[in-house]
Amino acid sequence: MAADDTGARVLASDSPEATLALAEALGRVLPADSVVALTGELGAGKTCFVRGLARGLGIAEVVASPTYTLMQSYAGGRLPLYHFDAWMEGREKALFADGGDEWLRAGGVAAVEWADRVAEWLPEPRLAVVLEHLGPDSRAVRLSVVGGAVQAVGGASGAVLAGLIGSLPLPPGVSEGASPGNPGRP
Ligand SMILES: Nc1ncnc2c1ncn2[C@@H]1O[C@H](COP(=O)(O)OP(=O)(O)OP(=O)(O)O)[C@@H](O)[C@H]1O
Ligand SMILES: [Mg+2]
Repeated sequence: MAADDTGARVLASDSPEATLALAEALGRVLPADSVVALTGELGAGKTCFVRGLARGLGIAEVVASPTYTLMQSYAGGRLPLYHFDAWMEGREKALFADGGDEWLRAGGVAAVEWADRVAEWLPEPRLAVVLEHLGPDSRAVRLSVVGGAVQAVGGASGAVLAGLIGSLPLPPGVSEGASPGNPGRP
């Protein structure tokens, strides 16, 4: 994660449904041109989180993993969702250099899996979501804002995004504070 991120909130999710519901709450309030940068190892829950974002945006279509497509877009919600996956090596250019980066500021919500691999292409401010295994059904979910704390170039300011993180209501199954040694639940 970036050293200059702000407003970090570390949570523990105890089920896929809880992660989905947390992301859904975020999807309800994200402003246009939001970039959600997701990192976490295989099976950490990145796609699960994006499904929740889609649900919060009011998108009925089921979000699939875009591993073998460059970008998948979903319409029909409050804002369009652009779902990227940067898992494949060497994809950065195809994803972002040849005009793909237009989707990052196309008035929707852009969700990027494996964002750490393409961080240099991603605009600031952006929302960082770091998912980490705590146990078979539990995950640490770290939300923060990367860059733009003072002023934004288009889109919402970092301070606005940090405010959204801070005031996000926690659904059942999500609790405050988590680390691998401290799952955040008794
Ligand atoms: N608390 C949890 N939150 C999210 N997913 C969970 C949780 N507990 C278990 N899971 C399971 O972990 C898996 C997460 O899969 P998902 O496809 O979302 O991960 P991913 O990070 O996108 O993986 P990939 O790197 O392959 O894209 C699912 O099978 C889900 O059911
Ligand atoms: Mg995935």
